[in-house]
Amino acid sequence: MKAADIVEAAAQYLVPTYARPEVVFTHGQGVYLYDSDGRQYLDFMAGIAVNALGHADPEWAEVVAEQAGRLTHTSNLYHTAPQIGLARRLVENSFADRVFFCNSGSEANEAALKFARKWARQSSGRPDKTGFVAFSDSFHGRSMGALAVTHKDKYREPFAPLVPGVTFATFNDLESAAAAINAETCAVIVEPVQGEGGIHPATPEFLKGLRQLCDEHQALLIFDEVQCGLGRTGHLWAHQAYGVTPDVMTLAKPLAGGLPIGVTLVTEQVAQVMQPGDHGSTFAGGPLVCRAAQIVFDRVNRPEFLAAVRENGFYLQQRLCELASDKIVQVRGAGLLVGLELTVPVAPLLAAAREQGLVIIGSGENVVRLCPPLIINREQIDTAVDVIGQCLLRL
Ligand SMILES: Cc1ncc(COP(=O)(O)O)c(C=O)c1O
Repeated sequence: MKAADIVEAAAQYLVPTYARPEVVFTHGQGVYLYDSDGRQYLDFMAGIAVNALGHADPEWAEVVAEQAGRLTHTSNLYHTAPQIGLARRLVENSFADRVFFCNSGSEANEAALKFARKWARQSSGRPDKTGFVAFSDSFHGRSMGALAVTHKDKYREPFAPLVPGVTFATFNDLESAAAAINAETCAVIVEPVQGEGGIHPATPEFLKGLRQLCDEHQALLIFDEVQCGLGRTGHLWAHQAYGVTPDVMTLAKPLAGGLPIGVTLVTEQVAQVMQPGDHGSTFAGGPLVCRAAQIVFDRVNRPEFLAAVRENGFYLQQRLCELASDKIVQVRGAGLLVGLELTVPVAPLLAAAREQGLVIIGSGENVVRLCPPLIINREQIDTAVDVIGQCLLRL
């Protein structure tokens, strides 16, 4: 099928939830994508912070093919070794005592909210301890619960009424959080580095203050690390840079190297309120995705890999700061999750960069989001920054 035919068929057959450029990708290799005309693109989007090891990583591809030929799915009614191998890795390398598997970031947050409701009711004996506190510019997903704690009106309003009981406070403003959190709060949910809301890292005081407020009010602290977790910031978990430990953490995007996965990591006290039948998922934690995720986890969880992410992220920010453009407001981020805020909408820049063979995406109207595969090197960073610099001059 020709590219033009695919684009036309997409317009006819798909629910129009995405506005896509007329590019059809056919394959990828490392940090490069290739389209149906054979054009090469440097990939600084990584499938929205997903392809941590890049495309078609040989070890990952071999293990996935081997596992696909052996066992792909059994449901959660039976045990499989890959699921337990992944669960053990996650628990032994985090604050968590147990994990719940699902299939996406939204589902991981949905589970976190459900666990919090049950935990709070059961541990406090108060039927009214059901409130959630979330923050301005947050993004936690599109399912009804995850959407209820997502801030942007544009995403929420068409689907109202959402799950009740959510109060929004201002991100990085402890006073505002303190006014919102009370005895009826069952959980506070926050991204240590906001992804969709414009790449905003939390301040250490903010996360430390939230921990304290949650402890004072017997509420759970949920860190949504769906976008910023698993090495993206140069730390295995983004919160490790802050020295603050949550009660619940959600993961998804990069964990299975491009296959769908979500995980809700919890402490023993939270896990113990859940019983067989309380929550579940048909596909979650299947042997194929879990084998794939073990490969990603083992590669990312090495001190030299994480150090390279920190160094390359610092280099990327430094190179962007050197760009001479009066349209740049700020460069910010953590590791290889970097935002370039402009005085103007970023859409024309994204299109111009793509024409020059660089794939980048936005985070809100005015922020360019740079989230390449974690295996990116300095030379490739130089290329990307040069293209961005040239495109900025022509804006
Ligand atoms: C921080 C965060 N949480 C949750 C989600 C939702 O994840 P998914 O699209 O896999 O449902 C996203 C997606 O961008 C995200 O960035």
